[in-house]
Amino acid sequence: MCAELLTRRAQTVYYGPVMKLTFVPHRRLNALLTLIVCLSAATIAAQTRPVPNPQLASKELNARVEALLKQMTLEEKIGQLVQYSAGFATGPSASNLTYDELAAKGQVGSMLNVVGAEKTNHYQHIAMEKSRLHIPIIFGLDVIHGHRTIFPVPLAIAASWDPEAAEAVARLGAKEARADGIPWVFSPMVDISRDPRWGRIVESNGEDPYLGSALARAWVKGYQQDDLSKVDSVAVSVKHYAAYGAAIAGRDYNATDMSEITLRQVYLPPYQAAVAAGAATVMSSFNSINGVPGSANPFTLTQILRKEWGFDGFVVSDWGAIAELRNHAIGDGPTVARKALEAGVDMDMEGNLYGTVIASQVRSGKIPESVVDDAVRRILRVKFALRLFDHPYVDAGPAYEATPERRAAARKVADETMVLLKNDPVEAVGALLPLTSKAKTVALIGPMADDAQDLLGAWTVTGNMKDVITLKAELQKRLGDRLLFAEGCGLLSGEDGKTLKSVSFTASNAADQSIPVPDDQKTIAQAVEIATRSDVAILALGESTNWMEGEAASRTTLGFTGAQQQLLEAVVATGKPVILVVLAGRPLELKWAAEHVPAILEAWSPGIEAGPAVADVLFGDVNPSGKLPASFPRAVGQEPLYYAQTPTGRPAHGDLSRMPRNAAEKFVSRYMDEENSALFPFGWGLSYTRFSYAQPAIDHSEVPLREVLAGRHPAATVGVDVTNTGGVAGAEVVQLYIRNTSASVEQPVRELKGFARVTLAPGETKHVAFPLGFDELNFYNVDAKRTVEPTTYTIWVGGSSLATAETSLKVVE
Ligand code: BGC
Repeated sequence: MCAELLTRRAQTVYYGPVMKLTFVPHRRLNALLTLIVCLSAATIAAQTRPVPNPQLASKELNARVEALLKQMTLEEKIGQLVQYSAGFATGPSASNLTYDELAAKGQVGSMLNVVGAEKTNHYQHIAMEKSRLHIPIIFGLDVIHGHRTIFPVPLAIAASWDPEAAEAVARLGAKEARADGIPWVFSPMVDISRDPRWGRIVESNGEDPYLGSALARAWVKGYQQDDLSKVDSVAVSVKHYAAYGAAIAGRDYNATDMSEITLRQVYLPPYQAAVAAGAATVMSSFNSINGVPGSANPFTLTQILRKEWGFDGFVVSDWGAIAELRNHAIGDGPTVARKALEAGVDMDMEGNLYGTVIASQVRSGKIPESVVDDAVRRILRVKFALRLFDHPYVDAGPAYEATPERRAAARKVADETMVLLKNDPVEAVGALLPLTSKAKTVALIGPMADDAQDLLGAWTVTGNMKDVITLKAELQKRLGDRLLFAEGCGLLSGEDGKTLKSVSFTASNAADQSIPVPDDQKTIAQAVEIATRSDVAILALGESTNWMEGEAASRTTLGFTGAQQQLLEAVVATGKPVILVVLAGRPLELKWAAEHVPAILEAWSPGIEAGPAVADVLFGDVNPSGKLPASFPRAVGQEPLYYAQTPTGRPAHGDLSRMPRNAAEKFVSRYMDEENSALFPFGWGLSYTRFSYAQPAIDHSEVPLREVLAGRHPAATVGVDVTNTGGVAGAEVVQLYIRNTSASVEQPVRELKGFARVTLAPGETKHVAFPLGFDELNFYNVDAKRTVEPTTYTIWVGGSSLATAETSLKVVE
């Protein structure tokens, strides 16, 4: 019986929890509310086999696809499998074809980087009016954290731990993209990223599969609205499939290498969650996975994606990834194109290989035409589902304006993403934040304070720096002439010789962007001078989003770039109280700051409402509630650093900040020159109020294995009372972690398995309940199958991955 159930569950599709929040008055205290987070039994029942996406699988839609396919020549079919970049370049070696001619022949299935009614309509008119079969082009674009209205970067949105925030960002992004002729976005990026040396961590949801899956679902829902036919829905492209975030040594485009268990348990869940939420397309990745490139990998693309998860949309390659398979040395052009197509990559993004080498191989019998037909079917299905055949054009609307409504939406999300890392009391002043009116003169210092472009964040194709309200502009508005300002230094210069002295990047479409080398010593002296005249100094430091964040922006160091560290130390040396605002798209190494600066706010790259959102928190208009979605290291040498590590036979113990004193302290898993732990751990984030956690209670401390395997959900529920013991209202992200203490395959020392954002008035208590069942308790066994075994789970509930309030659950035979 058990074996049968095991096999059945092994085929389960992971849908993740559906959160239902119910507020129930407590018997004794009126103010006591109960928050129940539950997963319905019906959802569980739906999880046992891949469910076809109803939007891509209707009879009518398939009939239209088949009718069209019958009429297509081989060249027209292959035309559907190609995508060209006819605008700016977001990768190397853009092809130089005459797209008008190709479109007229029905040989341009898709285009990217063509934006706006005028440009998209131009090509669409050719495809619809001049080509024989009038098949519309599908235009795709990188809409990553908003289209015209730029929100905080995705890693920041992950710090809100608020799926509704992600959904709202996607929703507005979809509306604005669609108005610009874009029915398809290359988002969400759901790569698990555990190494901030990798610049693309900024685009991700951070290090955790549970949080990443919850956000992946929300992004898809916001873009697609469960209905691709709506005029303001866009199709998503979930990327970069698969495991792109695990690039060895954090170097972009590098290989990944991991066990199948790790692949399935850690890296795949967010993609699967997105597919289960109805994702219409998936983007195959640049990297190889255990020796097989992601863009020619039948195991990930066909076996897992299509057979196990039931994905019936189409797969587009990443930019040039098919042509680049030649660099992976797995064959010449025709061979790699065949491998990619047969593995399940339907569309060639800007590689110009499918368009040139597939037809002859079909004619010579090397590639069965049915393989081409299947790829065409999948692409046409999405085009029909989006109703592109019926509505191929877009009306030119009024020019974009960052209206008060759009600004309010951007600010609301940005407010939630701020993470207060530290707020220690300062002698005679108390906690520096929120800033009191006692601070008469405020010095604002740093290269990020007035840098509109860098405050927008990486990957803002259509964002406009003119829409950004900088910190300087906002603080000037609030403080008038009580504000003193000095830039302090540049972001990219530096005297140490290791950082960039100047950079020059000339893309085919961009002007030469040489950056002059500033005179840091002079500007640091000016900053020190204004700091000495002020009551408090706010330092706005971070990273250049143009040069140090995002794609192709890996780093071997994680400190502040240029002379910023020198600037920070010089201002701290004045003895004035310092508040550090970090504006960067990755966890930076903040060890010196954590030791010498009393207040640190992680503000990420906040988008157009950067200044107002940071000021909201600095002045206490908003109580910070963000929590870290990725661990912040003490030293770059700890990377990849993440909380859900698997155990070691020689765990470290004792005081790791000093040298070991005996063999027991020496021969353990530790560094000789640094502690093991994160400087600021996953889930960390302070508030202007305090939250206390009562002892968590579990309704069933023992549950029979067979019930868990049969999908009884919840098999047990963990409840905890959380109280706001401080003086102001605040939101807390309540987190539940588990550890499986005895499994056939060793399990992480902690894993997030539930979270809920709760808002509490001063003195208020809420009861938060987390359901536990197969979805939360399972792991992958040696056969890479999901299972639950008899064991005991230790369970912690609290406000970060350091949570200590504990209970347990036994799963018995
Ligand atoms: C990136 C993708 C992006 C594509 C199109 C690639 O270089 O890896 O994330 O969607 O370019 O711009």
